[in-house]
Amino acid sequence: MTRVVINGDLKRGKINKNIYGHFSEHLGRCIYEGIWVGEDSIIPNTKGIRNDVIQALKEMQVPVLRWPGGCFADEYHWKDGIGPREKRPEMVNTHWGGVVENNHFGTHEFFQLCELIGAEPYICGNVGSGTVYEMQQWVEYMTFDGESPMANWRRENGQDEPWKLPYFGVGNENWGCGGHMRPEYYADLFRRYATYVRNYGDNRIYKIACGASDWNLRWTEVLMREAGRFMDGLSLHYYTVPGTWRHKGSAVNFDQSDWFTTLKKTLAMDEIITRHSAVMDHYDPEGRVGLIIDEWGTWYDVEPGTNPGFLYQQNTMRDALVAGVNFNIFHKHCNRVQMANIAQMVNVLQAVILTEGQLIIKTPTYHVFNMYKVHQNADALDISCESDLYQHGEETIPQVTVSASMDNSKKVHVSLCNLDPENTADTLLELRGLAVSSVQGTVLTAGKINAHNTFEQPDLVEPSEFNQAVLKQNSLEVQLPPMSVVVLELLQ
Ligand code: AHR
Repeated sequence: MTRVVINGDLKRGKINKNIYGHFSEHLGRCIYEGIWVGEDSIIPNTKGIRNDVIQALKEMQVPVLRWPGGCFADEYHWKDGIGPREKRPEMVNTHWGGVVENNHFGTHEFFQLCELIGAEPYICGNVGSGTVYEMQQWVEYMTFDGESPMANWRRENGQDEPWKLPYFGVGNENWGCGGHMRPEYYADLFRRYATYVRNYGDNRIYKIACGASDWNLRWTEVLMREAGRFMDGLSLHYYTVPGTWRHKGSAVNFDQSDWFTTLKKTLAMDEIITRHSAVMDHYDPEGRVGLIIDEWGTWYDVEPGTNPGFLYQQNTMRDALVAGVNFNIFHKHCNRVQMANIAQMVNVLQAVILTEGQLIIKTPTYHVFNMYKVHQNADALDISCESDLYQHGEETIPQVTVSASMDNSKKVHVSLCNLDPENTADTLLELRGLAVSSVQGTVLTAGKINAHNTFEQPDLVEPSEFNQAVLKQNSLEVQLPPMSVVVLELLQ
């Protein structure tokens, strides 16, 4: 049996709502088709943005949205994406399929999207192929409230009031697609570019430096040492790739061995955050600089028959577990991790929404985001878990991962993942420091490891009411079905 102790009287820090953030890049069918269809489309839209996607995203409460990349950010020139659409110049999207980008979705459209879904904007600027001047002018264009060349240009393009821009990233993966730089070089560039990312009027920008990927602790070390005092956040990217980068594995046609490897690799997020945080603690013992995991999620081979540069993949019950496991990890590290952005929001990698023409499906990952939204801005509770093991061949990983939080109205939410696709997880939760009067819950599970929603059967994997939690004085006996994600609400 798995034994969990929840210390309801011990709060470990606030779970920043931005941990439930998203990422949208000019990549494949994320922006075009997935979000932007244009005002003349037969697909119902609001100012060019599809209504079905707006509605689904609003329901899920997207707190923050990163744009325009990704690798695309370091070849994006913002001036090409403003003014009358028919006059906007085209460019080649060299990273993603070599397709022609018409720049119809630009700064104004992005802010429109954020407003429609109620998310805060997080813009990533161009360091790799852009100038300091260009970045400076973009920030002035978006946020300057008085008379200025850029602010007046914004007004000519239909936006009188400056926008609020809370988050700005200074480059993306500048150790790779963003310029193949050494950390020493990028640290200096960050200091220089960030200087001109100004706070105009009452807008205050949280400046995010390009961070490491995976286990590259040296990047974090150099950045913190040389530029830590100039930044508010430092990013980190970690993708869950079941195979190798060359043969990543199929999103849908996989066996239990792939399932196990995927979850084992996703559990590594805990250790990766711990290691990078330790480096950050050394240079920033007060924890002022946030760790911003602005790209995470599964990365498989693309769906057969689709453009390899478009990174379109299906999304199964396995992805739901990956999402739940990562959220439980982010909650554990909520004092350092201040934001996370799943890659990506629509039609790319571990998407929460897939579209085909007029059709839309919410993926299993969508449902986990929706179930877990109750943790946004809640206080993480101290928790310990002695989990049974899920064994596959000679290897083992924990069968259960768990996290808990208390919201403003003192409701406690407990999120549990059973990683074992064959066995129920009998779990006993001791509720210390809480006087619980009732429990209710929601479960996401399926009969097959590769269960997924399709355009023909969009509701195959859907959450339902969970009745397998029995309250006994100050403990809860829970039976987690195989391969399940459960969120319990405890009322005091
Ligand atoms: O999300 C896809 C790509 O992965 C991003 O553009 C890049 O930053 C990362 O390598």
